[in-house]
Amino acid sequence: MVGTQWGDEGKGKFTDLLAKEMSMVVRYQGGHNAGHTLVVDGETFALQLVPSGALYDHIVPVIGNGVVVDPFVLLAEIDMLSRRGIDCSRLRVSGNAHLILPYHQQLDALHERHLGKSKLGTTKRGIGPAYADKAMRLGVRVQDLLDEMIFREKLRATLSHHNKVLTKIFNRLPVDPDALADKVLSECLEPLAPHIADTADLIHDALEAGQHVLLEGAQATFLDLDHGTYPFVTSSNPTAGGACTGAGVGPRHIDRVIGIAKAYVTRVGAGPFPTELFDADGDRLVDIGREFGTNTGRRRRPGWFDAVMLRHAVRLNSLTELAITKLDVLDTFDTVKVCVAYEIDGVRTEKLPYHQSDVHRAVPIYEELPGWRADLTAATEPRHLPSEAHAYLELIEQQVGVPVSMVSTGPGRSQFLNLTS
Ligand code: GDP
Ligand code: IMO
Ligand code: MG
Repeated sequence: MVGTQWGDEGKGKFTDLLAKEMSMVVRYQGGHNAGHTLVVDGETFALQLVPSGALYDHIVPVIGNGVVVDPFVLLAEIDMLSRRGIDCSRLRVSGNAHLILPYHQQLDALHERHLGKSKLGTTKRGIGPAYADKAMRLGVRVQDLLDEMIFREKLRATLSHHNKVLTKIFNRLPVDPDALADKVLSECLEPLAPHIADTADLIHDALEAGQHVLLEGAQATFLDLDHGTYPFVTSSNPTAGGACTGAGVGPRHIDRVIGIAKAYVTRVGAGPFPTELFDADGDRLVDIGREFGTNTGRRRRPGWFDAVMLRHAVRLNSLTELAITKLDVLDTFDTVKVCVAYEIDGVRTEKLPYHQSDVHRAVPIYEELPGWRADLTAATEPRHLPSEAHAYLELIEQQVGVPVSMVSTGPGRSQFLNLTS
């Protein structure tokens, strides 16, 4: 399951929904920059690191090797879930996943401050610095916690580098590696140790036993480090290929690639956004859709559905189908719009431009349809949707080239229609 836009499409909701039919749900990239919301029986859960299948007793939730894990945040989340009656004892965390430690967060904030007006608007969770350490071979992994000597040695090595940056470039105090090791080991080792595992092995055992495994993406296609609107991206690969590397399964095992798309678009943080709205329609999307970050509380930037981006997302991820969320947010609009092409310097194009500067200048060309002006929040079957809503979904299907298999019409687990049955 992958996000097809700039995040917050409703991946958490659909993961929770589909987990009913699964045995295992695996997060494969990102970290606690994610905020995945589940609403079950009126109760809201906002998950950052624990996979969104965790609410079911039959699911083994897995944090794969591609994720960056802040051990303090993970333990706080396990604690929060346990206090709310969710048993997290089955949760497994890859020993190969890299740790986010407090200096990563400090560096993230300092880099953003340093960029000034050019800042990316990161979540300041230390995601970029942790993945940078991984690529630099300076990272500390979850499995290192299990060997005190190695953990202390690795912290000393990585901090001998970072302390130079902190003191000489940013004029900050150095971090004492042994004091940090004491804190992490005393607070995190005992509660985390039972969860640490070779998760690729667990996933393959499940597959060989004929079980179904759902790989839950965080962030989204256009926040992908390689395929997104660089540098306004995250530091991992949320696209479908990232699911293979971040979980340790080859592409032959992937049967379905479900793209999650909002019925409109939102984006948090800086970067190009061709269909962005700065008018009353945008304000209505934010108000009705409650478009404020699950995690950081920031107002999300709103815009109309962009089929040009989605066509590209279909290719990048080999999507087999789309699930459209938040269709109900458009319930009161007199007309609804889908961007079908861009105009760049007077020339029409149906493709997402390769050059990023062209994306900044792209002017959307819209197809406008009449709204349905009806409350969809109780719709559970295709026949409950007015013809105008069907027309909107058909336009998306026709533009994007893959079927819309599922639609969500509210945050609750039961607010959902299957269009294939
Ligand atoms: P994720 O990061 O992709 O999991 O998405 P988020 O949880 O950050 O943001 C999606 C928000 O929309 C959450 O508050 C969900 O509860 C909510 N949501 C999900 N699906 C629907 C829907 O169909 N309609 C409405 N109105 N809200 C939805
Ligand atoms: P979910 O999984 C929306 C955005 C940030 C910023 C950029 C880089 O809930 O969809 P980072 O902290 O990752 O280095 O920030 O990416 N971003 C998200 N936007 N949803 C998310 O996750 C996001 N995770 C990161 O706002 O623009
Ligand atoms: Mg989110």
